[in-house]
Amino acid sequence: MKIISSPRELKEYLKNINNTVGFVPTMGALHEGHISLIKKAKEQNEIVVVSLFLNPTQFLKGEDLEKYPKKDEADKKICQLSGVDVLFFPQASDMYGVDEVSILAPKVRGYVLEGESRAGHFNGVLTVVMKLLNIVNPTRAYFGKKDAQQLNLISLMVKQLFMSVEIVPVDTVREKDGLALSSRNAYLSKEERVQALKVASSLRTASAMVSKGVLNSYEIITAMREMLAPLEIFYVEVLDREFSPLSHVEIGNTIILVEVKVATTRLLDNIWL
Ligand code: PAF
Repeated sequence: MKIISSPRELKEYLKNINNTVGFVPTMGALHEGHISLIKKAKEQNEIVVVSLFLNPTQFLKGEDLEKYPKKDEADKKICQLSGVDVLFFPQASDMYGVDEVSILAPKVRGYVLEGESRAGHFNGVLTVVMKLLNIVNPTRAYFGKKDAQQLNLISLMVKQLFMSVEIVPVDTVREKDGLALSSRNAYLSKEERVQALKVASSLRTASAMVSKGVLNSYEIITAMREMLAPLEIFYVEVLDREFSPLSHVEIGNTIILVEVKVATTRLLDNIWL
């Protein structure tokens, strides 16, 4: 596995490669969720590039940038064992200068759900993803469905800015008890982790209601909110795949999303129906 930290050097290296390139952008602290993205990228492409970059611009003031788990050596090992060809490992100074051009998230879709309580977060995400895609110029790029709003906004950016990369959504990976994998799960104490399980169980309840023919969004949201209490709930929403609210679940076109705070940790999860 080649490790490159300079954007220019990586561009130069990839310029001579005529194979399909699959790209998995990450902020490190890799877990099985990231490994499933890498696996998918390996299945579909000849070369796999992973980036490991804790992007400061997507953290708001007072958020967890300083305490975000950092496991650089373990991450490199995971990439190597997963058969990654190139690991892009830049410093913030390699990625950002002063007086920067940036990408702005759309004024509506970028400021609802997670974007409402983290105003500006998606500007940072889209800017860094645009930079990374321009550096790697991949055939396909892989993003988890767990961060459904991020995935939606990146797909929108690629479409609206006429970019040629294919964005590939990858299913959420869960612990045996249902907890969706996330680097931020590392913040949870034993007791908080038990509380966190309410998120996945509320989604299982929603799915069971739909299986029994209950399609009314209000009924589903009410049942989920009851299950999530007394956690702080940012939102529970039933949306279509374009992120517009649905009064009734439409099978094949629905995402049910939830975000809560367990102690100081934000947890988000969703199911695609
Ligand atoms: O999902 C993430 O890990 C990050 O938001 C991403 C896409 C790597 C951009 O920093």
